[in-house]
Amino acid sequence: MQYGYFHDKNKEYVITRPDTPRSWSNYLGSTEYGAIITNNAGGYSFFQSAAQGRFTRWRANTLPMDQPGRYLYIRDRESKEYWSASWQPVGKPLDKYKCVCRHGTAYTIIESAYDSIESETTYFVPLNRHFECWLLKLTNQDKKTRKLSVFTFMEYANFWHFWQDWVNLQYTQYIMEMSLKDNIINHAVNPLLPVVKDDKDAPQSKHTFFALTGAEIAGYDTDRDKFIGPYRGYQNPLIVEQGKCSNTIAVGDNGCGVLQADLDLAPGESKEMMVIMGIGQAEDEGKKAVEEFRDLSKARGEIDRLKKYWHNRLEGLTVETPDSEFNSMLNMWSPYNCLMTYAWSRAASLIYAGERDGLGYRDTVQDLLGVLHTIPEEAGERLELMITGQAATGGAMPVVKQFDHHPGREKSPEESEYRSDDSLWLFNTVPAYVKETGDLAFYGKVLPYADKGKDTVLDHLRRAIEFSLERSGNHHFPLGLSADWNDCLQLGQKGESIFVAFQLRYGLKTYIDICELLKKNSEVDWAREQLKTLDNNLHKHAWDGQWFLRAFREDGFKFGASESNEGNIFLNPQTWAVYSQHLSNEQAENLMDVVHDRLATEYGLMICDPPFEKTDLEVVKATLFNKGMKENGAIFCHTQGWAVIAEAMIGHGDRAYQYFRSYMPAAFNTRADLREIEPYVYCQFINSKTSPRFGASRLPWLSGSATWSYYAATQYILGIRPEYDGIRIDPCVPSDWKQFTVNRRFRNRMLYITVQNPDRVNKGVKAISLNGEKIEGNFIQNDLLKESNSVEVMMG
Ligand code: GLC
Repeated sequence: MQYGYFHDKNKEYVITRPDTPRSWSNYLGSTEYGAIITNNAGGYSFFQSAAQGRFTRWRANTLPMDQPGRYLYIRDRESKEYWSASWQPVGKPLDKYKCVCRHGTAYTIIESAYDSIESETTYFVPLNRHFECWLLKLTNQDKKTRKLSVFTFMEYANFWHFWQDWVNLQYTQYIMEMSLKDNIINHAVNPLLPVVKDDKDAPQSKHTFFALTGAEIAGYDTDRDKFIGPYRGYQNPLIVEQGKCSNTIAVGDNGCGVLQADLDLAPGESKEMMVIMGIGQAEDEGKKAVEEFRDLSKARGEIDRLKKYWHNRLEGLTVETPDSEFNSMLNMWSPYNCLMTYAWSRAASLIYAGERDGLGYRDTVQDLLGVLHTIPEEAGERLELMITGQAATGGAMPVVKQFDHHPGREKSPEESEYRSDDSLWLFNTVPAYVKETGDLAFYGKVLPYADKGKDTVLDHLRRAIEFSLERSGNHHFPLGLSADWNDCLQLGQKGESIFVAFQLRYGLKTYIDICELLKKNSEVDWAREQLKTLDNNLHKHAWDGQWFLRAFREDGFKFGASESNEGNIFLNPQTWAVYSQHLSNEQAENLMDVVHDRLATEYGLMICDPPFEKTDLEVVKATLFNKGMKENGAIFCHTQGWAVIAEAMIGHGDRAYQYFRSYMPAAFNTRADLREIEPYVYCQFINSKTSPRFGASRLPWLSGSATWSYYAATQYILGIRPEYDGIRIDPCVPSDWKQFTVNRRFRNRMLYITVQNPDRVNKGVKAISLNGEKIEGNFIQNDLLKESNSVEVMMG
């Protein structure tokens, strides 16, 4: 079943029928003013934090899953019939009601047609503003004049902290106050406290405004319960049914933003109006916003500006390959997904309801990898923030609170709080950042530790290695501490993680590269020594006979051992053994064959197999999850990119691509009922074959899978890899790809790369010409690059 299509030119996903298996969402705004919107106009808005700045109401896990939302009711004043400008909430029968939703770059357009009236609503947040706009255009396709009323609707939270709004009703329902100033609704929380003008964090400053421009206001309601009426719902509000607002002002209980506009439309005529809702007081920020957008043509200009801004970001890397679904992902949705994951971490979606605020260390450092070329400066700032979240021990604070982080003054984490993998992710991201920007001086930049002292970035990296070396166990592998990457393994403080041992290997190897570059010979010697010892220990203790073990628990129990009935093979240590280059090519090939036999399914690779059913919860929390879900043997998408990279590194272009496509969202566009979630978004996991829901996918948007999939596709399948002094072109593609092109921005210059593959090989570059000049090997030296470069690559 198909519900929509990719409109590549517009960078939109167009949903042609609104009854999608789940609500399919998009993001609006920026990290200052954020919003989630679904194909049926559901979702919520927030200032800076989805948990602590959530000023509109949304109830997690309700039915439908996206209500309430940003609704526009349309009522015919003659027939008294009403519907909504999005299919929901009124939900007219789909044989009479047509609806198309276009999710684009930080905007969403919902078009409807019912009873000869067409509507088009564009939802967006103008750049650098703290308010959102819903630009509504109504067109009369009837032969007679139509007399219509429009009622806006937004439901407010009574407190900006979502949890207080949900549970502390005895308090929050009695501090909220609605008012109307110059026809602009004001929604205030704690208005009886004096306003602290320039401090948006002060609770007494939490006002929002709601205005309508482009139309005369015929009435208003700010009392939600009066607007909806008793025992009714969003689908049939009493006031809309009666056709006239009752001008209520809610003081306490629950507020809403309803403004009524009456309009007449001659045959063929169109009229526009726009809702503006945002942060600040009606009489102040509200008035200013209304002034700014009194002329609605300004709004169209803002939409264009917004599109340009986003398209420019995404045009830093575009592709044209034989696989149109791959192109749709790479040219828009994959980097866009990475940008949203970067922006909102694990805090704002229809699944992450805000409870997880702050930047989880390991997730955030990995998320950066997916946005380095789209937003290098911003990513650099976030990376510095994360480096200052590392403690002087070399371990990291589990969570960095971006609005409340005090480098050098944070409390040192307790030993029991450290995760064993956290700081080691810096070895993926820091060099990738330096390679993207060419800013070698970054390694020498002095940054504070979270708790005390400061060091150069290079020394921060060394401390990360030392942290692991100083905390190693009986087999000399890094201790499990409170967790390693897999949150479910209960290794105990003294257990050891073999996955992290491979991360450490990757870290040491990377550290050696950097120190060689910086000519720090004694550091190179030190790290080589450590690497040798680690490799010996991996040979001696980590191999199970056919694959690598996953971990040793502190009581001696082995995870990922053939002798176990459950979880006897795990994916991560195998892919990381290859990725960290611990193995010869032949060993890697054999190991990846075992992975293929044991873990591959038609929708991706399982995180482990068989799933846990009987193993004690003290040993592995995965037993808590149903079989084939989450860490209990699901196709955990975060890990898929590593399998793709491993296969590409050993030259298996067909298998790497097969893996990539097996879970690629767009590949499910015509089978959307199977995957259920957005066919344009990566997700945390896909139910694997041991689950009764095999193929159904869960937790869209915010997960490491967006980043690693994009990284694997661009750097290992297409093989365009920035290095310190240039860019390497080392594709590993399916043998049926005859040609492809990649346009890539690199340090403010453009490369227009055409790759020919006449011999249909998977890997290998025979010749490159740069601007007509032949160059040796597959590496383009930075100083040979001009502003715009044509690169011809011949595989073979
Ligand atoms: C989730 C967490 C991530 C963890 C992974 C595996 O995605 O956000 O931190 O590594 O699960 O347990």
